[in-house]
Amino acid sequence: MGKQVALQLCPLSEYLEAQLAERCPVVRWFELDEAAQRAWLATQADSVNVVVTGGHLGCTNDLIDALPSLGLIAINGVGFDKVDVPYARGRGVAVSTTPGVLTDDVADLAVGLTIGLLRGLPAADRFVRDGRWLEEGFPLKRKMTGRRFGIVGLGHIGRATADRLAAFGPIAYHGRMPKDAPYRFEPDLHVLARDSDVLLLACAATEETRGLIDASVLEALGPEGYLVNVARGSVVDEDALAAALDRGTIAGAALDVVADEPVVPVGLIASERTVLAPHIASGTVETRKAMADLVLANVDALLAGAPLPSALK
Ligand code: 8YV
Repeated sequence: MGKQVALQLCPLSEYLEAQLAERCPVVRWFELDEAAQRAWLATQADSVNVVVTGGHLGCTNDLIDALPSLGLIAINGVGFDKVDVPYARGRGVAVSTTPGVLTDDVADLAVGLTIGLLRGLPAADRFVRDGRWLEEGFPLKRKMTGRRFGIVGLGHIGRATADRLAAFGPIAYHGRMPKDAPYRFEPDLHVLARDSDVLLLACAATEETRGLIDASVLEALGPEGYLVNVARGSVVDEDALAAALDRGTIAGAALDVVADEPVVPVGLIASERTVLAPHIASGTVETRKAMADLVLANVDALLAGAPLPSALK
C-alpha cells in the first residue's frame, strides 16, 4: 500500500478528526476550493486510500475515478444513497457505514418531533420568550396519546420508532414486504396514509422511494394528518408538501431532513405548520462517539488489510 492518506470530505466530530489524524495524514478536502482540489489531485491522487464522508454527502463517481489507490469510502452514517455502491465496488472500492449504533437516537428524535409537532412545542417556546404568555393563553393543540401511527419503512430505525410509538397508539407500516413484527402491514401506501393520523418516514432513499410521498399520498393523509421525516428529503415531493401545508390539506410536518441540505425550501420555512431540525437525528455525544469508533474500526481494518467490520455487502 502507498502513502495511506485519508481524504475527509466534510467536518466530523473533534474526536473522529483527532483519532483519524493519529492513523494517517488527513486532507481536509472541503476546505480546498476547486482549483486547489485539482492541483492537489494532479500530484497526490494516488496517495489516497480512504475517503471519510457523511451520509448526507457521500462521494461522487468522479472523485472515485480520480483516486486510483482508493480502497474504502467510510460513511459516518447509515444512509448510503449518496454513493453509487455498485460503481464503487466495480472499481474495487469498499463502502462502509455505521449500522446499529444510531438506531435509538433516530427513533427517539422521531418521537420527539412527533410530540413537538402535535403539541406545538417550538411555537410554545417562542410564545413564552416573546412575552405573550403575559397577555394571552397558548392555543390548544392536538393529543398524542391515541393517535394512529403509520410508518413507511420498517427497517431497524422504523422498528425502533414503532416500538416507542406503540406506547401512544396503534401502529401500521408499509414497505416492500411484511416484516416479522407485531404491527399491521399495509401494502397500499395510500391506504396507510388515509388510515394514519401521523405518517412517519423511516425508509432508505432509493430510486424506488424517490418522491414516494407525493401530492396523492399527502391528499390521502388529509387535513388532520401529520408527516414526520427522519429518513431523507428525497423521499418527499417537497413542492407538493409546501403546497399541501399552504392550503392546509395536511395539518403539519416535522422534518429533520430536506432534499438539498442545508438549503430548506422557502415554503417549508415560511409555513407555521412545520417543525424543522437541521438533520440532527444521530447528533448526540454518545452516538457520534459510537459512530466514530465504527468508522475508525473500518479504517483500521483497511490499513491493516483485514476484513472490514461494517462494509456493505
Ligand atoms: C448523519 C445520517 O447525521 O446515518 C445517516 O445516514 O443521515 C446521519 O446519521 C449523517 O450521516 C452525518 O453525516
